[in-house]
Amino acid sequence: MGHAEAYDDEGTPAEQTRRTFMVQATLALGGVIGLGIAIPVVTSLIPSADALGSAWSPLTADELAQLKKATDKPIKVSFAVKSQDGYLPAASTDEFVWAIKADEAEMKAKRPELYEGEAKLPYPVVNLGFVIFSPICPHLGCRYAWIDAQNKFACPCHGSQFTSVGEHIAGPAQRGLDPLPLRDQSGTAEITWIQYAQNVSNHIVLSYST
Ligand code: FES
Repeated sequence: MGHAEAYDDEGTPAEQTRRTFMVQATLALGGVIGLGIAIPVVTSLIPSADALGSAWSPLTADELAQLKKATDKPIKVSFAVKSQDGYLPAASTDEFVWAIKADEAEMKAKRPELYEGEAKLPYPVVNLGFVIFSPICPHLGCRYAWIDAQNKFACPCHGSQFTSVGEHIAGPAQRGLDPLPLRDQSGTAEITWIQYAQNVSNHIVLSYST
């Protein structure tokens, strides 16, 4: 009997093993269900062709004044990104972009990949006399900065470098900087915030808002 009792006592770990197995099985099942839900959500974030028109963020008068200060050197323009992804209520996030005065001929000469071939953008690169760059490094998503003394953009994370018009000149990034659309809407300048795929050579659009 003593042995049986001892066995009963030792049976507990066996039960625990069984329970552990069931918990693990449940977790694994949860993982499968989670994956099943995650795939359609991610797919739905890839915008349809007409989504571009619904995610414009206006610049305030002060922000527009900032933008107009852009010369042949890029400047930082802050603005509030309006996000609308169809799932969450519309929200604003403080962001900034880099802006530089540029003309189409210069951009075509220096960034021909934006105009032709696989990396071609589906919207104009130069708008209202400016090019707007997403502040997100096309390598792995850090924020790069303009280094005035060196006359180039540099990313602190892995050392990618870009010219003032966004040509990739050094480091692991596989493409130049990503332009963002800018438009004049009845006297108000508006920017579309676009998220691009990181660490690929083409400008692949992931979403048009945050
Ligand atoms: Fe900018 Fe890697 S994230 S160089």
